[in-house]
Amino acid sequence: MATLVYTQFVFLLLFQSSVWGFPVRQTPQESPTCGYKSCHATKPGMLNVHLVPHTHDDVGWLKTVDQYFYGDRNDIQHAGVQYILDSVVDQLLKNPDRRFIYVETAFFYRWWKRQTDDMQNTVKQLVNEGRLEFVNGGWCMSDEATTHYSAVVDQMTMGLRFLNDTFGHCGRPRVAWHIDPFGHAREHASMFAQMGYDGFFFGRLDYQDRSRRMAAREQEMLWRASESLTPPMADLFTGILPNGYNPPEGFCWDQSCDDPPIRDDPDLEDYNVDDVVTRFLSIAHTQALVYKTNHIIMTMGSDFQYENANLWYKNLDKLIHYVNQQQSNGSKVNVLYSTPSCYLQELHRTNLTWPLKGDDFFPYADSAHDFWTGYFTSRPALKRYERISNSYLQTCNQLEVLGGPISRKGPFGAGDSETMKKAMAVAQHHDAVSGTEKQHVANDYARRLANGWAHCQVLVSNTLSSLSGSSAPRVYCEHLNISVCPLTETSKKFSVNVYNPLARPVSWPVRLPVNGTAYSISDANGKAVDSQVVPVSQATAAVRRGRGYAVNELLFQVQAPPLGYSTYSVSLLQNGAPSPQASPLPRAPKAVQNKFLRVTFDPETGLLSSLSNLETQQTVKLSQNFYWYNASDGKNSESIQMSGAYIFRPNTSTPFIISKTAKIETLQNSVVQEVRQWFSPWVSQVVRLYTDSRALELEWTVGPVPIGDDLGKEVISRLDSSINSSGVFYTDSNGREMLQRRKDYRPTWNLRQSEPIAGNYYPINSRAYIKDDKDQLTVVTDRSQGGGSIQDGSLEIMLHRRLLYDDVRGVGEPLNETSDIYPEGLVVRGRLLLSLSPPATAADTHRPLAQEVVLQPLITFTDGELHPNTRLEFSGLQAVLPPAVHLLTVSQWDQDSVLLRLEHQYQASESKEHSQPVSVNLQKLFSTLDVLGVSEMNLSANQWKDEMTRLDWKAESGEKPLPKREGDPSMWEVNLKPMEIRTFLLRVRQR
Ligand SMILES: *[C@@H]1O[C@H](CO)[C@@H](O)[C@H](O)[C@H]1NC(C)=O
Ligand SMILES: *[C@@H]1O[C@H](CO)[C@@H](O)[C@H](O)[C@H]1NC(C)=O
Ligand SMILES: [Zn+2]
Repeated sequence: MATLVYTQFVFLLLFQSSVWGFPVRQTPQESPTCGYKSCHATKPGMLNVHLVPHTHDDVGWLKTVDQYFYGDRNDIQHAGVQYILDSVVDQLLKNPDRRFIYVETAFFYRWWKRQTDDMQNTVKQLVNEGRLEFVNGGWCMSDEATTHYSAVVDQMTMGLRFLNDTFGHCGRPRVAWHIDPFGHAREHASMFAQMGYDGFFFGRLDYQDRSRRMAAREQEMLWRASESLTPPMADLFTGILPNGYNPPEGFCWDQSCDDPPIRDDPDLEDYNVDDVVTRFLSIAHTQALVYKTNHIIMTMGSDFQYENANLWYKNLDKLIHYVNQQQSNGSKVNVLYSTPSCYLQELHRTNLTWPLKGDDFFPYADSAHDFWTGYFTSRPALKRYERISNSYLQTCNQLEVLGGPISRKGPFGAGDSETMKKAMAVAQHHDAVSGTEKQHVANDYARRLANGWAHCQVLVSNTLSSLSGSSAPRVYCEHLNISVCPLTETSKKFSVNVYNPLARPVSWPVRLPVNGTAYSISDANGKAVDSQVVPVSQATAAVRRGRGYAVNELLFQVQAPPLGYSTYSVSLLQNGAPSPQASPLPRAPKAVQNKFLRVTFDPETGLLSSLSNLETQQTVKLSQNFYWYNASDGKNSESIQMSGAYIFRPNTSTPFIISKTAKIETLQNSVVQEVRQWFSPWVSQVVRLYTDSRALELEWTVGPVPIGDDLGKEVISRLDSSINSSGVFYTDSNGREMLQRRKDYRPTWNLRQSEPIAGNYYPINSRAYIKDDKDQLTVVTDRSQGGGSIQDGSLEIMLHRRLLYDDVRGVGEPLNETSDIYPEGLVVRGRLLLSLSPPATAADTHRPLAQEVVLQPLITFTDGELHPNTRLEFSGLQAVLPPAVHLLTVSQWDQDSVLLRLEHQYQASESKEHSQPVSVNLQKLFSTLDVLGVSEMNLSANQWKDEMTRLDWKAESGEKPLPKREGDPSMWEVNLKPMEIRTFLLRVRQR
């Protein structure tokens, strides 16, 4: 209903198009009572205790998201979200003073769909009166260490859109709430600020940091979450909750708790009101000592609580009554039902200044030997699947827009992007892509993603068929990374369609499993393309395990236009075994090089020995090898902590080398040069240099990690270079801005280091680097991984973990992944891309490189000869966007409008050439769409930009935020400054 109204309203605007944005918007039905206005009054001269009834509902962990929703499998964990919402609504109606917050829209949406109109109206009423308040409001509460910003923005957008569509203005959360994630990323804070949140609360931070902040009363602060964006754009008020997210000790009244209820009938036995009040006052006074104001917050709830909400509310009503009754006896404590935003409002009203925070909250340790740095890498296969699923979703979204209605219902049936959007949103949860769920739940996330792919494939086929004019069935090969594709293995003639989701042209190496020895390939203009056929490596044949039987791989380089595709035709010329020249040689070359890079090898060991950039004439010594840390089994004098899904705790600080030397095969031809290194039956690698690449590829294959020796293993790839990195390295935050990391050091407190390896590990989402004055070595990863720089010049990245013990953080399973195809342990394959540059220009290489890995081309096939009228090339853009601009989102919003996000992908001062403001003309963007109207929104697209007002907060440093951004050159011409993301709703018409 809401969207319909909106569409009509947009239509009106066509006639007023000289005005920036849509001039007339429906003024939201401003309810007098929701939001900050609905807060209970506090008492100025007293200590005000804000009781926040809440439930923490994991979108999958020990049970799947749907098992949690229904309350299925209560033998695993007693938890049923549908009952929680039923019960809470019932209890809120019993007393208008009561409050409840709800967080995870994935669950709320499931519940809402099944309610009657009456119930929905009742709930709307509760929301309009601020009695039920949404906080955070994304589809899930995302993980912060292993997520990529693109997927986080999407999942927040989806959850917040549902809330806005359903409840309007009163459904918009004011507060971000990440009470459980295991450490906090600066980029998340930056995103929350740009999504319009007034404040942010969380529960977990390093135990040393917490105790210092408690003593200094610095548990509440202003997080300046970007070095590039002009304050206060990325400033976020941030508060640390007092008990994680649990109630104070002795005050848990859920059915899952054993604390005594309030027994307030003096005629009965065990009357305890005096005792309860005394204990409560004492806790409140103690808590007030470690916060700055005369307001404190208490989270009254925990995991999956409030299934029988009467227990909680009955006792909270009494607690409030009896504690406040003491005011007549001179007590200066006032207790009230509250919400995080009501608490935040009171903090804001104090006009205080707050300490400024510039770094992030990684790594998180809850005790001296308990660093939560293992999950940065846990379940590497799921982490990769999640990452390529994001790439695929973006492609699916783009093709939905470019294809128009036919994409959803075309020659190949009904396709949609919605299934994938939901699967990806669920996968961002802090026990999903983080790898900290039970095995059956990990399987469920993967299954949902696979289902999303299937729905997107229909959509993609419809659009490509419509754009190309060919309705030939389209074939998808999802196992090209292990050289499996039934079509290319058998076909004598087929075509390859390469769709590029980036806004600039890409050149991309293609590697197809084949059984012929020679092929002719022509591009979209009919020009012959150089290709090579090489034998499938033994490592690849070993991983694919009988799925596919290609003996060879066909290699060639493809080019694809921006937001478009190019088609290549492939014909078999010759069958049989590859020519002897195509076969690898059994020794390491002295060097391999292309026009950009040169790498040398040590002839004795077969390992890398140096890397040179031929354009800049710089060379560093560089070796690389694989090692494993012996995971602690807890039988240790210092601590019984074991390594597990969350925790990384090596038994010793010296990792074991897998092999000092590698067996080598070398393959050199006009398309690629590869040095295939074999270290052990479970570790191999290909060092690969494509002819026109500025990056050296290290394709690693690790597994099944052997555990016959009863030792858990955490496998790393370590680069050792001559770069004088002085104890410093750099990692990205959620794939965007870079953060400096210093060994055994934290920017905000004096660290007592107790875990020399695990305590120096940080999340790497897309890249890390080390540098000195002359050289910067950057590693781009293909998924989130953990890593560190333990020695100067060294950079290690954890690739795979196989563990024998649970780490006692609740998951209750050792991280020991097997599958039907790999019963003796998962084999995982991935890539690291290395580049060497002067520090001043390094970003010019690693920014586009990382982007090509995040948004990779989609390759599809059709069998046989193409119809002569087939359109072989297409671009959805009128022109290539400037190199600094990334097209972050192109997604159908409703029938006539498209959500567009443009991002400046360079940091301030990062690149002489690209860290400059740049502008884009929205009307000159798309080749197939006319843009008729435009309106700017906040980052999460749940608020018009010009209606976005956030609470302003003052930093202790006293500096005043600069005035607001200057305007754009014109209505259609929009400016982007370094690291800026701008979100627009475009009204469009297909040309
Ligand atoms: C929020 O939803 C209302 C209808 O509930 C709609 O009128 C409004 O345009 C939406 N706001 C945004 C920013 O989408
Ligand atoms: C905060 O500042 C405002 C405006 O200057 C003032 O009205 C208000 O009384 C101040 N509040 C406190 C608690 O000092
Ligand atoms: Zn959780």
